[in-house]
Amino acid sequence: MLKGLFRTKNLDDILAAANRPHASLRRSLGPVHVTLLGIGAIIGAGIFATVGEAAVGVGGVPGAGPSLVLSFVITAVVCGFTALCYAEFASMVPISGSAYTYAYATLGELIAWIIGWDLILEYAVGNTAVAISWANYFRKLLSGLGIPFPIWLATDYRTAALDPAIIEAAPHILGIPIVFNLLAFFIVAALTVILVWGIRESAAFNAGMVVVKLIVLTFFVAVAIYFVSPSEMAKNWHPFQPTGWTGTLAGAAVVFFAYIGFDAVSTVAEETRNPTRDLPIGIIASLIICTVIYIVVAAVFTGIVPYPELKNLTPSELAESLTVALDRAAPHQVWATNIVAFGSVVAHTAVLLVFQMGQPRIFFSMARDGLMPAKFASVHPRFKTPHVTTILTGLVVGVVSSVTNISEMVALTNIGTLFAFVLVCIGIPILRFQDPDRRRPFRVPFGPLLLPVLGAMSCLGLMYYLPPASWWRFVGWLLIGLGVYTGFGYSGSLIGQAMGRPTRTPLCLIVASLGCLLVAAGMFTIPHDAGPSKLLNALVEAAADGHGRVLTGFSLAAAGLVMAYFGWYFELTRRAAPSAN
Ligand code: ALA
Repeated sequence: MLKGLFRTKNLDDILAAANRPHASLRRSLGPVHVTLLGIGAIIGAGIFATVGEAAVGVGGVPGAGPSLVLSFVITAVVCGFTALCYAEFASMVPISGSAYTYAYATLGELIAWIIGWDLILEYAVGNTAVAISWANYFRKLLSGLGIPFPIWLATDYRTAALDPAIIEAAPHILGIPIVFNLLAFFIVAALTVILVWGIRESAAFNAGMVVVKLIVLTFFVAVAIYFVSPSEMAKNWHPFQPTGWTGTLAGAAVVFFAYIGFDAVSTVAEETRNPTRDLPIGIIASLIICTVIYIVVAAVFTGIVPYPELKNLTPSELAESLTVALDRAAPHQVWATNIVAFGSVVAHTAVLLVFQMGQPRIFFSMARDGLMPAKFASVHPRFKTPHVTTILTGLVVGVVSSVTNISEMVALTNIGTLFAFVLVCIGIPILRFQDPDRRRPFRVPFGPLLLPVLGAMSCLGLMYYLPPASWWRFVGWLLIGLGVYTGFGYSGSLIGQAMGRPTRTPLCLIVASLGCLLVAAGMFTIPHDAGPSKLLNALVEAAADGHGRVLTGFSLAAAGLVMAYFGWYFELTRRAAPSAN
């Protein structure tokens, strides 16, 4: 009965659809472009902004201290397993939809939808965080150049509410303070214009930015070593694990954000001249290059700021870890700090560019399959870019980044991306078993099981170290996705229509869709800082903190589950009945 939901898409059909003349993109990228795109996507807010948080810990989670270097190595190994899986898929299915397309070919439509929806967390939500961080650094750079920019136009209302000075400085209309992140909106809008203009121009722009950020990180390391000798640094590396393995692993879960991006390479598969060779090169080379850079930067960072001092940094100082560290190593060299701040702005811009390029291409692939509106699959007649989805992504990311808070966006991005990686790893052994004879220009070494299973397990392990808040929001997000699939994608699916599904969503599925959305509303209603046992306790103890919210959240979720279950049950039994067409 459930078989239709897990119907896989034939790989030959996928490849043929992508090569239809009116639906194809312009192929102009080579292996160096692709590797540079990977580095462009990887090095950004993670190394410039989240290293401090990973070293000292946040929100009750312990920090890694000097073992931050080890955290980077652990995360690199976890990402390495997944990168090999991505490389096998990307060389075999060089289609712009990335993990979404691979899942459609292996795990079936429902999982493909879930992964496509989940990738929005990695690309669009991740970019929201990067745009917010870009605005911080850009404002700092402006002030370093003697150009003050009002803080109330460079932050969101909730962050401002914690600082009465910002609220006082903001203009008021009818007593309401006007606070929003105009800078974040501006950078997203500017990059959207570049992306609609064309992939070749964008790739050249990216290459320039990658060169700048590599020079600036090398500059950071060189200046730090010039002012602080390696033997002095070595003293600060003891104790190596001040909070034990828990801190090192929690640090690994935080710095995961710094590695996100190597997989974004796979979204330009249809614009790469020789994708079967160049995509594996781009994915693996960019990951290796960034890992080496991160390990050196982490060692220098923890070497120049002693752990006890790191713990005394304020959250805003932690958010600009590298410039704060450089200020300490070379206190009167303002020019050096300004150069690193400039590099940070450039690095953020490169990440934004690649992710703003990746998200529309995933929507583009989903639309081509009928799971998103057909308009999303159109290609600009002159520029040959997916302009509709590029503009839509730009608008949504720009508006959301102008009103949201960075730490929540980072946590959501990490959990969503790790989950997508788990599904990609699982897909490798499934496809090797289902379709053993297909040509695989690149194969994960040591057989179909060992490395993919290690990859899936290690990603789940990192997810375990993320705070409960990200788990509840993640589940809520997936349920919204399930609601959209139930209400639109199920009937819109081209494969589904070929199997005789109704082309208009039937009433029972509208009820099921609303049910999914109600469960999601429940997930967003419960307090997000509590794990399952604390929540159950708050549910049964009337006097417990948050009892009312937990009760409301659970009631919404229970009502929604009933609606979703019966809605789907009715549809699937109706379709399984012999009279169903
Ligand atoms: N890896 C990207 C960054 O650090 C997301 O900004």
